Amino acid sequence: MLAKIEELLQEVEGMSAGNAEELEALRIKYLSKKGAINALMADFRNVPADQKKEVGMRLNELKNRAQEKIAALKERFDNQDNNTEGIDLTRTAYPIELGTRHPLSIVRNEIIDIFGRMGFTIAEGPEVEDDLHVFTKLNFAADHPARDMQDTFFVESNAEDVTKNIILRTHTSSVQARVMEKTQPPIRVICPGRVYRNEAISYRAHCFFHQIEGLYVDKNVSFTDLKQVLLQFAQEMFGPETKIRLRPSYFPFTEPSAEMDISCDICGGKGCPFCKYTGWVEILGCGMVDPAVLDACGIDSKVYSGYAFGLGVERITNLKYKVKDLRMFSENDTRFLEEFESAN
Ligand code: DAH
Repeated sequence: MLAKIEELLQEVEGMSAGNAEELEALRIKYLSKKGAINALMADFRNVPADQKKEVGMRLNELKNRAQEKIAALKERFDNQDNNTEGIDLTRTAYPIELGTRHPLSIVRNEIIDIFGRMGFTIAEGPEVEDDLHVFTKLNFAADHPARDMQDTFFVESNAEDVTKNIILRTHTSSVQARVMEKTQPPIRVICPGRVYRNEAISYRAHCFFHQIEGLYVDKNVSFTDLKQVLLQFAQEMFGPETKIRLRPSYFPFTEPSAEMDISCDICGGKGCPFCKYTGWVEILGCGMVDPAVLDACGIDSKVYSGYAFGLGVERITNLKYKVKDLRMFSENDTRFLEEFESAN
């Protein structure tokens, strides 16, 4: 009998219940009329007289412990219930800290938005590219300095046939070539992406940066169309007072080619250190797609013409947010990144 009491005492001490039902089951098992403790009580009269005192004490102890234990467990559940009732479901939520968009993403999205409203859709291409799409199809002569080791990161170089070189793309113009290979006009795309150049890193140059390429090919596309689209873009991006100016330039894949300046956003065109006192800052390169490029990509240059442009996202972001050091875009300093709003 004593051994049985000890066994039950151990069980009672170790009791636990995950919910009210489990607790009720324990109560029934130990404390109900037909429970284990009552069964022992019923047996008590069979205990020899000389042991009655000790067994009686231990039995009472067992009963008390079981009652205490079950009361304590019950209290736990009751308190939990009270807590649930105490929850104020109308209280405003704790503020959730939102992350912020990277400034380059904010600007990229804004550029995509502006051109999207003018009917341009997005096209993408690989960052690890072949020479064929980065240079050859875009009319770069075999000895063009841009193919030089100094500018291009090589993944695999092929001495016999440079067009087979695998490189990190140096500009998003490669996506032009990919789109034209696959699609016949009308084509109206913008191609956002990361590009790589083997440059010494400083406040104004980095070994990777971001560009957005634009391409429009159809019948009768003229330089006037290009100019109007770029003016519209500049004024939506930098405000309706913004002026643009096109300067003749050279790119292998466009003829004629131009570079576009906008009136300096910082001094409003009066002249300041940012615009080197000229009142203008350069933001992109552009031109009419060279007929040789159209033909190399399988588009009949006698039927179609097109324009293209390429802009640097870092450049536009510098202007918009007055970030002077390019390196800040890739350092991931949260004090810098937190300054940009999370919307967008
Ligand atoms: N790919 C040129 C660069 O990286 C930018 C560019 C210039 C793109 C003129 C064009 C263009 O599409 O027409 O500097």
